[in-house]
Amino acid sequence: MKKILLSFALAAAALSACQNKTEDYSWVKKGIDTAASQLKSAAEEIRGTGMLPRSIWVGYDMDFLERQLERDRSTFVDSLRALPAPGKEGTLRLCDIYDWTSGFFPGSLWYAYELTGDQTLKSDAIYYTELLDPIRRYTGTHDLGFMINCSYGNALRLSPSDTIPAVLVETSDNLCSRFKDSIGCIRSWDFGPWNFPVIIDNMMNLDLLFTASRLTGDSKYKDIAIRHADHTMANHFRPDYTSWHVVSYNDDGTVELRQTFQGKSDDSAWARGQAWAVYGYTSCYRETGDRKYLDFARNIADMIMTRVAAEDAVPYWDYNAPVTEETPRDASAGAVTACAMLELGTMVPDGQKYLDYGEKILKSLSSDAYLAAPGENCGFVLMHSVGSLPNGSEIDTPLNYADYYYLEGLKRYMELKGLAYSDL
Ligand code: GLY
Repeated sequence: MKKILLSFALAAAALSACQNKTEDYSWVKKGIDTAASQLKSAAEEIRGTGMLPRSIWVGYDMDFLERQLERDRSTFVDSLRALPAPGKEGTLRLCDIYDWTSGFFPGSLWYAYELTGDQTLKSDAIYYTELLDPIRRYTGTHDLGFMINCSYGNALRLSPSDTIPAVLVETSDNLCSRFKDSIGCIRSWDFGPWNFPVIIDNMMNLDLLFTASRLTGDSKYKDIAIRHADHTMANHFRPDYTSWHVVSYNDDGTVELRQTFQGKSDDSAWARGQAWAVYGYTSCYRETGDRKYLDFARNIADMIMTRVAAEDAVPYWDYNAPVTEETPRDASAGAVTACAMLELGTMVPDGQKYLDYGEKILKSLSSDAYLAAPGENCGFVLMHSVGSLPNGSEIDTPLNYADYYYLEGLKRYMELKGLAYSDL
């Protein structure tokens, strides 16, 4: 009987490999090739500046913002009075290594190298990763996980060296220094009016801590990640599994307030926040094997599939934004969601619906509606993301993290399908 089952499984695997080869993956190849050429030209253009590509400068229109936020401009935040300096609009917006997004460009170069085997991409990835070395001594943000795990974390996977683990561990120690025991969370921001702000995005920084525990054999990093995840699960979510953006705590661990900073309103579901949440709890299940994280990730994923109003599954910037012809999509939220769905779908018996949804998003992002034409888009891969609409910043523009998670999604998809670049 066992033999019969085994031959059945082998036949099924052979059939699926056969089908994989005959399916049309030209959209995957187009995405990878576009990314490779865009990233190489961006790497060349900014070499020697010590800076990294972040987005393209865009302005905003107050009437449009009033329509999207459904409130009067007299209630708008001060930052809305700061338009890009004259002559900047449409040009490349760079950032320095202390910006929260600094790890994404080197990380994208690593993924593009991994997907293609192109040695130029590898040497570019090494060059831009090494720029971030001083971050190992930085303590001024929770985003150390994004900055160092996406750059050095991928370097360790793809081009290991004896010096990389120390960078990851030193950075993890600094991230842990932001953990407050009486609250049970890692502090997100050092700016603003809040006593102890924690944003849902912070779930994404936990992967660095899981990595540090693996590298050192010391569970203290993982223990902090778990306490942060549990506390966030208890306080950051509404009964319908949508997440608040910012939860600020009093020193005794009680909640001071729940708000938004980048969403439409305090009670809305900011699209990228929901994406960070489903990705973060999927990672927590991968790293701990604790079913409560899996169940939670599924509940968030189911909510996302119900709430995203766009036909092509690339969400509007906030699930509660009024949907009209002018409502911007957030390709970055789509890319992060696709990554999570493609992992979550492998963890549960009825995972096909998550895999299909992840594939649908990736296909949409690989279409001409989102994928840049080679040589355009200031070297970015995807168009149409939103950074912070209520702050008048990065509205309907490329973002380096949209590109990073798009490439991560393509890598996950290729692995799921058992594809190599040469098969495409
Ligand atoms: N972590 C900031 C953002 O998602 O925009």
